Amino acid sequence: MSQADFEFEGVSCGYGDTVVVRGLSGRVGPGEVLAVLGRNGVGKSTLLKALAGFLPLGEGQVQWQGQRLDTLPAHRRCQAGMVYSPQENVVFGDLSVQANLWLHHPAGRPDSRYDALFELFPRLRERLAQTAGSLSGGERKLLAFVRTLGMQAGLCLLDEPTEGVQPENIERMAAVIRERTAAGQRFLIVEQNLSFLEQVADTVLVMDHGQMVLNGRMQDLGRETLEQYLLI
Ligand SMILES: Nc1ncnc2c1ncn2[C@@H]1O[C@H](COP(=O)(O)OP(=O)(O)OP(=O)(O)O)[C@@H](O)[C@H]1O
Ligand SMILES: [Mg+2]
Repeated sequence: MSQADFEFEGVSCGYGDTVVVRGLSGRVGPGEVLAVLGRNGVGKSTLLKALAGFLPLGEGQVQWQGQRLDTLPAHRRCQAGMVYSPQENVVFGDLSVQANLWLHHPAGRPDSRYDALFELFPRLRERLAQTAGSLSGGERKLLAFVRTLGMQAGLCLLDEPTEGVQPENIERMAAVIRERTAAGQRFLIVEQNLSFLEQVADTVLVMDHGQMVLNGRMQDLGRETLEQYLLI
């Protein structure tokens, strides 16, 4: 395994007085994918929100390429090369698909960063002029995925990227992630889709009640073990 340059250590966080995530640690190195798994409501999205800077850390540290991230606001973490795609409210519904893709780029207009992604997901290119709010839930997730990957960041935090997405597009998403990891990009992915994770994940962190209950390499743990944790 390569040297991890993204690390979170002893992270606890929650909402108000309610602690949801307790003492979680994880690490991701260049070209690696860390998957976060667990049943509904165990705190997966809460962890990602805190790592991305949308929720304060109660305890713990987040380090990225020698820099403490947890003291920085969300936009500074993004500037430092960490992008986050949330589970819900992933697009600006009143804006066009095109505006959703180019809004955050300084020039604010199309360039070539999405070309290869449009080849894989041509329906998005066909719908550039349409409002993002008129897309289906799965199409919105795909749009958010394409926008996030288009930022070409060193580290992507993706919260259930395949939720509602058509199977053939899920396969293509996996192919994009493998291509990007081969080029050194890192991913931290919350997912329920084990077939997808089998294609992309190197290591897995399983959560229950906000805590880590299992972690290890994807291939060592195997699907049956992971399924048990999701079904309990
Ligand atoms: N904004 C909020 N304010 C208060 N409590 C919240 C908030 N968001 C989530 N929670 C609570 O935190 C706990 C963990 O929620 P979280 O969304 O992190 O779970 P999850 O593992 O992502 O679940 P799912 O698989 O359904 O997406 C739940 O008990 C939830 O009710
Ligand atoms: Mg969630």
